[in-house]
Amino acid sequence: MIICHCQSITDHDIRAAVDWMRASDPQTLITPGKIYRALGKRADCGGCMPLFLSTMQTAPGLRVPGAGEPPILRPSLGRAIR
Ligand code: FES
Repeated sequence: MIICHCQSITDHDIRAAVDWMRASDPQTLITPGKIYRALGKRADCGGCMPLFLSTMQTAPGLRVPGAGEPPILRPSLGRAIR
């Protein structure tokens, strides 16, 4: 399913990027910006952020091992909150 229409990013692309980043660095915090960069793209309108964030949260690799519960990502705040 297409998540970001501006950049033609699918839910599969997002989950694959999360998995790749987690495999590359188990301690890294994964953000939407890092996913765009990993895919060689840049966000444009930002209209996809709510769906982009919820798709990220379905990726098992989003969580930093041993760091407790993953943060709740809210696009309106522009940052992760606990
Ligand atoms: S739909 Fe993703 S940046 Fe526009």
